[in-house]
Amino acid sequence: MFRTIKDIDFAGKKVLIRVDFNVPLDANLNITDDTRIRMAVPTIKHIIDNKGRAIIMSHLGRPKGEKVDKYSLKSVVARLSELLEKPVAFAENCIGEIANEAVSKMKDGDVTLLENLRFHKEEEKNNPEFSKALASLGDIFVSDAFGTAHRAHASTAGIADTLPAYAGFLMEKEIKYLSKVLTAPERPFVAVMGGAKVSDKITVIENLLDKVDTLLVGGGMAYTFHKAVGHNIGKSLCEHDKLDLALKVIEKAKTLGKKFLFTLDVITAAEIKEGIATETFGCDNIPEDKMGLDIGPKTIEEFSAELKKAKTVLWNGPMGVFEVKPFDNGTRAIAELLATLDATTVVGGGDSVAAIEQMGAADKITHVSTGGGACLEFLEGKTLPGIEIFSQPIK
Ligand code: 3PG
Repeated sequence: MFRTIKDIDFAGKKVLIRVDFNVPLDANLNITDDTRIRMAVPTIKHIIDNKGRAIIMSHLGRPKGEKVDKYSLKSVVARLSELLEKPVAFAENCIGEIANEAVSKMKDGDVTLLENLRFHKEEEKNNPEFSKALASLGDIFVSDAFGTAHRAHASTAGIADTLPAYAGFLMEKEIKYLSKVLTAPERPFVAVMGGAKVSDKITVIENLLDKVDTLLVGGGMAYTFHKAVGHNIGKSLCEHDKLDLALKVIEKAKTLGKKFLFTLDVITAAEIKEGIATETFGCDNIPEDKMGLDIGPKTIEEFSAELKKAKTVLWNGPMGVFEVKPFDNGTRAIAELLATLDATTVVGGGDSVAAIEQMGAADKITHVSTGGGACLEFLEGKTLPGIEIFSQPIK
């Protein structure tokens, strides 16, 4: 069992909260997707409503230990303040005098956001002195940064050597649903995997094969499986050095008696271009000058039939080049279907989450993960350093 914020009385305590506010910004530093901020709000509210002092830490981008203006967390202050419906103070540094002074001014129920942790190279090096400098600002450490839980950094892992670590509500929800699909899924359990590369997802696929009843594979990675079984895939994406691995996975699925389906038909074009003319082909016979860019109608039908039978669904990765119309159709169809299912539905990974959000289906999904890399590593069966800390003995 791991410790959560439900175990704590926050009154009068200085609470260091690690969140993942690594949100996308446009050229004018406006937030283009505030999901990660919204998702951390219940934890912050719980702490300040219970008279704790919320000292918030995050990274933004990859400034590589330098102070880079466009990666300043100042860009997040206004939105966070709107969502919390209260002022948020900003400290121009996450350690040292500036941070100490900002914290010393805080009263119960106040919120202070510290400047980007990654402006210090010690953060990513998990430097113990830097962890201690952060820890010295608070009495308790809470983490809601599931998106960064796969990184063993000073603020995600090292800090827990000094302060007891507690999981926030978002962290708890992420662990609950992702663990549930891996360890106790209601059956049938169907996983839908997509995205461009087999190499990015192969470890997840191998880990899931033991656990699912049915595995559906779409997106760019499906063509490597087709090529491996001798199909003509034209100019479609293929990882030639992964053909043996793809065959092994197909064999493993057979041995385990699992249903392993990859695209039947495919929407093709000569290039990836908005509004370009398309043709549909069976996946075994794509012409030399064409590439597969989305799943076709027969595949949508077959995948939908499997998904409708499911009691648990895990979806990771888009079915085609969904950012470019008309290649968004397959991804859209899967997102829309998932929103109607009477099943536990869990969606993870940046692109499929973006698709679900774009289609306005997020509130009809049981759990939409805020993790990209973290979600994949969790599904690979790895122990994440930013999660281990909640069961680490308190010193
Ligand atoms: C993410 O966006 O996946 C997390 O914030 C982690 O960011 P990183 O890949 O730069 O460590």
